[in-house]
Amino acid sequence: MAETMRGLKRTHRCGELSLQNAGEIVTVMGWVQKQRNKGGIIFVDLRDRSGLLQIIFEGSDCGAEHFAKAEKLRSEFVVAVVGKVEKRSGAVNENLATGEIEIRATQVRILSEADTPPFQIEADSKTKEELRLKYRYLDLRRPDLQRNLMLRSKITSTIRAYMAEEGFLEIETPILNKSTPEGARDYLVPSRVHPGTFYALPQSPQIFKQLLMCSGYDRYFQIAKCFRDEDLRADRQPEFTQVDLEMSFVDVDDVIDATERMVQRVSREAIGLDVQLPIPRMTWAEAMERFGSDKPDTRFGMELKNVSELVKGCGFGVFTSALENGGSVRGINVKGQAEMPRKKIDALVEFAKGYGAKGLAYLSVMPDGSYKSSFAKFMTEDELKALVDAMDGQAGDLLLFAADKTALVWSVLGALRVEVAKQLGLIDESKFNFLWVTEFPLLEYSEEEERFVAMHHPFTMPMDEDLKYLDSDPGRVRAKAYDIVLNGVELGGGSVRIFQSDVQEKMFEVLGFTKEEAYERFGFLLSAFKYGVPPHAGLAIGLDRFVMLLVGADNIREVIAFPKVKDASCLMTNAPDKVDTKQLDELQIALALVDEKEA
Ligand code: AMO
Ligand code: AMP
Repeated sequence: MAETMRGLKRTHRCGELSLQNAGEIVTVMGWVQKQRNKGGIIFVDLRDRSGLLQIIFEGSDCGAEHFAKAEKLRSEFVVAVVGKVEKRSGAVNENLATGEIEIRATQVRILSEADTPPFQIEADSKTKEELRLKYRYLDLRRPDLQRNLMLRSKITSTIRAYMAEEGFLEIETPILNKSTPEGARDYLVPSRVHPGTFYALPQSPQIFKQLLMCSGYDRYFQIAKCFRDEDLRADRQPEFTQVDLEMSFVDVDDVIDATERMVQRVSREAIGLDVQLPIPRMTWAEAMERFGSDKPDTRFGMELKNVSELVKGCGFGVFTSALENGGSVRGINVKGQAEMPRKKIDALVEFAKGYGAKGLAYLSVMPDGSYKSSFAKFMTEDELKALVDAMDGQAGDLLLFAADKTALVWSVLGALRVEVAKQLGLIDESKFNFLWVTEFPLLEYSEEEERFVAMHHPFTMPMDEDLKYLDSDPGRVRAKAYDIVLNGVELGGGSVRIFQSDVQEKMFEVLGFTKEEAYERFGFLLSAFKYGVPPHAGLAIGLDRFVMLLVGADNIREVIAFPKVKDASCLMTNAPDKVDTKQLDELQIALALVDEKEA
């Protein structure tokens, strides 16, 4: 039978002890990392969240009964040890914070035994992620995950401290909601009391935080759980956490200022990173033109060039027909890669096709000045030379071009630029390049829905100077919207909100909502605006992404205790799961699905 802690009290965590404690009698508790029995002497590495500590058992110190217990210890047993801190008798372990000391045990209690775990609890595990996630409670014992989650906790407490100092109030908003306007698919929760109706889980606290501004709370923040039923990627989870804030009587610069000082403080306290303020700003138009992306990774160059004017009259149909259809031709210069093997270029063409390109045209400027190209035969020598010059091409360079509708060209080359840089190792991983992208378009045209949709959300304020185009040319209206980007990842975004009902009504009209539809969905917000609304603005940072980038992880699952996998399921709990017929009956829900067995 397992023993208890009765009469013992832990005095230190394992990693807290050092030479300064030499001579002290201490009580430590934790998990056995490893036990090595050398005959008359047993070494145990004891682990808790603070680190590892070496324990030595010898019969002369602890007596036969405790020595016998030490002999039984296996990995992951939970034990309490009483002993004396001593300078290590053997070699100092430089890799260990407690490497200069050991505990000479006088007592051990086995608090809990353990089966052999399905994988070893160690840093940099090579274990397949599926297995790690199935046994997440064991995975979470690994030092790298513990470090990530401890850092995450430190980050949230830093944020809370900063927000309090800046006069933000932490206010919780509901999880059982009406649909919110972020544009992803909702997670729905059926109502038992009102059969046939559903709550939607919040995609963000957007409407509630705006209402809090109407109610005079002035500055709000929340570390808020958000839910979006969308396709998962490395930086997306179906439930995730936002650092969400909203401010009254402010404009763009105030939100940017409050946010970047928070980012600076968190980065310093979490990883000792010194973020220079102000963080550089770039308009959306410039970001797209130069990087083909609204979240440019500015740690390397390889910027896009627009060569449309130059190739307008050339003989290459792919280029000219794209231009005739109102598109453009743009390219990137992959320096020094003229001799990239054909196979590798073909792989890049396939990559581009994955982003919807019909193809990718290439031109290698060979070291001897000759060209190797998929389209050179359609162009005169002069046209080629002009093209190479426009791309700042030199002998040895590989030029890649895409021709299509401009939005597609941007997304293809924007992604290709990052892919090529990764393949060629052009990214300085030690850099943290923060960037504000500002002046986003207010609307984007959805070919699918054949109407304009809000690029951020329908409450985003148009820029003052563009307000006049809202009727006549909605596509050219820029918004008071901004995103904060770190190393090519969208960290957060926000906007100044519309607070005048006439502008809001016009906005709904442009979005194709009737007044009735608008009231049906957001009536409570529109009504609230009739009773005195302050100008307000805000933003939300994706906390998971921020922590991921600060700890240098390449997936947000590494900074979330219990994440979901790509198909939005949890490998440990098996959620989502079937429910009892009785529960469904109570909700008056019948499943249209045919049971596999019956079928
Ligand atoms: P937005 O939709 O841009 O804005 O979201 C803000 C930030 O939340 C993070 N994020 C996600 N992180 C992980 N998994 C996801 N599925 C996911 N979706 C979004 C991103 C993103 O930048 N209410 C507005 C903010 C505002 O206007 O104040 C909003 O939600 O880092
Ligand atoms: P094709 O005439 O379709 O055989 O294409 C000739 C070359 O142009 C090939 O190298 C294609 O990969 C490339 N190409 C085709 N479509 C495009 C496009 N939209 N943009 C850039 N290159 C293209």
